[in-house]
Amino acid sequence: MTDRYLKAFDTAATDFERLGEHLWKPIGRATVERTAPAPGERVLDACCGNGASAIPAAERVGDHGRVDAVDRSAAMIEDLRSRTGGLPALSAHAADVTSWPGDGYDVVQAVLGVFFFPDMTAGTEYLVSRARPGGRCGFTIWRRGAVVTAGDHLRQAVSRVTGRPAEPRPAGPVEAVNLAGDFHAWLAGRGLTDVTVTTHELSLPLTPEIAWLVVTGSGFVTALSGLDQTQVAGVREAYLDSLRRAGETELDATTLIGVGYSQGSNALVM
Ligand SMILES: C[S@@+](CC[C@H](N)C(=O)[O-])C[C@H]1O[C@@H](n2cnc3c(N)ncnc32)[C@H](O)[C@@H]1O
Repeated sequence: MTDRYLKAFDTAATDFERLGEHLWKPIGRATVERTAPAPGERVLDACCGNGASAIPAAERVGDHGRVDAVDRSAAMIEDLRSRTGGLPALSAHAADVTSWPGDGYDVVQAVLGVFFFPDMTAGTEYLVSRARPGGRCGFTIWRRGAVVTAGDHLRQAVSRVTGRPAEPRPAGPVEAVNLAGDFHAWLAGRGLTDVTVTTHELSLPLTPEIAWLVVTGSGFVTALSGLDQTQVAGVREAYLDSLRRAGETELDATTLIGVGYSQGSNALVM
């Protein structure tokens, strides 16, 4: 994750929680239903944010289990710690999970995180290597086309307010794997067996409040960096106006949840 994104997630922490009810929590819960941590198990929740999947995982493993929830954003980890005093299984760590030393986990899960790694494939393989042989690994990514509408209208709005040309839609390696069949093959290539990919359909009503939270409570907030308060207010107005004019009333927030079994650290399919 670039420093720009790290700063963004630190900035987004408060609104991240408000957006969570609509977005992060349903996706986190759906992922945990698939990775199914059992009482007493050890879980690594990578890129945990403020706990959308780590908290339900900790509830499932109970007092005799353990969830190591790891995020690079200290603000996210602080927020998570402040809300989980009653969950002894949950241990929150501010760290780069692509060099997290713990291993032998029964479950490794990363919800909406791996595409921020500077090398998505190497980072994911590293996470797979943290699971015990036979352990479950669950990775959740946006399905192709999800959430992009908000980003497109936002970049146009920033351009209108600043007079700068609109930035292009960011393209990364995840674009090559964000359809179910491709994601399945990619996960198998990371050394996982018996891979299944589930599509988790989700759609958010684009009320002005939620539409703006999608910006201020997510990585999209990077688009506002360097703008003063007046410019941010102008972007909000232009963005909401642009969505309204385009007749956008719902935001596709569908994800792909891929789960497979680790074969051990030297089992990568090349
Ligand atoms: C879109 S958020 C998702 C958070 C959470 N999993 C959820 O679904 O609510 C992505 C998170 O990944 C974290 N992240 C990105 N790269 C990371 C890395 N190398 N190590 C740890 N956390 C990372 C960011 O700080 C951010 O909190």
